[in-house]
Amino acid sequence: MKVAVVGTGYVGLVTGLVLADLGNEVTCVDKDTKKVESIRAGIAPIFEPGIEEMLKRTLKNGNFNITDSIADAVKKSEIVFIAVGTPPATDGTPDLTAVRAVAKDIGKAIDKPTIVINKSTVPVGSGDMVEQIIKDQGVASDLFDVVSNPEFLREGSAISDTLNPDRIVIGTRRPEAAEKLKELYAPLQSEFIVTDLNSAELIKYGGNSFLALKISFINAMSRVCELCNANIGDVARGIGADQRIGPQFLYAGLGWGGSCFPKDVQGMVATAQGLDYDFGLLKEVIKINEDQTNHFLDRIEHRIGGFEGKTVGLLGLAFKPNTDDIRDAKALVIIDRILKAGGRVQAYDPVASHLVEDHFPAAIYVNSAYDVSKGADVVILVTEWNEFRQIDLARLAGTAKEAILFDGRRVYAPEKARAAGWEYHTIGIAS
Ligand SMILES: NC(=O)c1ccc[n+]([C@@H]2O[C@H](COP(=O)([O-])OP(=O)(O)OC[C@H]3O[C@@H](n4cnc5c(N)ncnc54)[C@H](O)[C@@H]3O)[C@@H](O)[C@H]2O)c1
Repeated sequence: MKVAVVGTGYVGLVTGLVLADLGNEVTCVDKDTKKVESIRAGIAPIFEPGIEEMLKRTLKNGNFNITDSIADAVKKSEIVFIAVGTPPATDGTPDLTAVRAVAKDIGKAIDKPTIVINKSTVPVGSGDMVEQIIKDQGVASDLFDVVSNPEFLREGSAISDTLNPDRIVIGTRRPEAAEKLKELYAPLQSEFIVTDLNSAELIKYGGNSFLALKISFINAMSRVCELCNANIGDVARGIGADQRIGPQFLYAGLGWGGSCFPKDVQGMVATAQGLDYDFGLLKEVIKINEDQTNHFLDRIEHRIGGFEGKTVGLLGLAFKPNTDDIRDAKALVIIDRILKAGGRVQAYDPVASHLVEDHFPAAIYVNSAYDVSKGADVVILVTEWNEFRQIDLARLAGTAKEAILFDGRRVYAPEKARAAGWEYHTIGIAS
């Protein structure tokens, strides 16, 4: 099929490449001309396992193209995806400026039957909004369909998630549009959930809100564990072994961050608010998440007597392993607090340091994990990259001024860390 994907970020680029790799003729569009040039030259602007190979392969076989012109892409396609960003506005509601702008440009370009599919995460009613914007450009309503097809990929495993989805949600008014989309996705052999537009939009917000709730729940339990000398690792394992609950997303840590959970949970709260329902449960989920990082930092400050004049080593900066995404990363909160308190930060991340440096030029970004502990008063594990799991803890302790390790992701076995020379602290176990 001939497919256009507008917005070539984490979602749009991966969706476009996977569809091209499956044999479709795909044209991706982005307004960022630097991004367009880089992708055209075969260089992926984001870090994602397997992406460069797929980009080079599909550019070479001609299935994948990229342009900065929405009109060109829409005119040669029968299916047009919207995959632009929907970041939170200052009041927490999602900013739909990009979705609106793209819908308008698509409407101006439609000159034949077209299915417009919204993949961006949006509040209920956005499908109707996109439809109205396209109609406002003079497009007859029988010339196009609007479909909601929320995306569930995870950064760090985006290609494999796109190739092996748990389910494909299709929200539409017309069964014919659903059939077309089923045909496009047939090679993925996934379960289809076909529903109306509003329900599809709510599935995405509801799913992310529930996952965030699970993490906040176990983080709240970790606080109780610290207070009563229990071990959150064992508690979580015991709770998660119940098949009705399951072990996923029951890992206590510094809390959830990233480009999706914070804005989607807030978006769910705002959506409910707009419908006159006070979703107090989710407000508490957000509060627990913020408290979790602050409480961990309080414990560190208490142990080392405040950050002022201290050198703090950070292992990891990205919001999670295997991505360079730092949007709403816990590292940003941590660095901000240490610098404001008069401390020094020396940090290492395998791929994300240069992005954090734009926000915090005053921190020092070292080239290896082992340099993080040199002369440090305390080291914090922030992101659980695999290379930190395998690190030589004794070597790391050897160059620290004070070998005090705060493990924010519960990666290390306490006895091993202690045997390697560290005074070891983690989440969900009293210090
Ligand atoms: N990143 C994820 O893990 C993930 C997962 C599921 C869903 N989502 C949702 O998918 C959407 C996209 O997320 P993302 O992480 O890929 O965002 P992103 O910021 O990485 O990419 C968005 C892209 O859209 C482009 N863009 C913005 N306005 C444009 C316009 N008018 N014309 C052309 N291009 C334009 C930007 O230049 C950018 O390259 C969001 O709604 C997000 O919530 C993201």
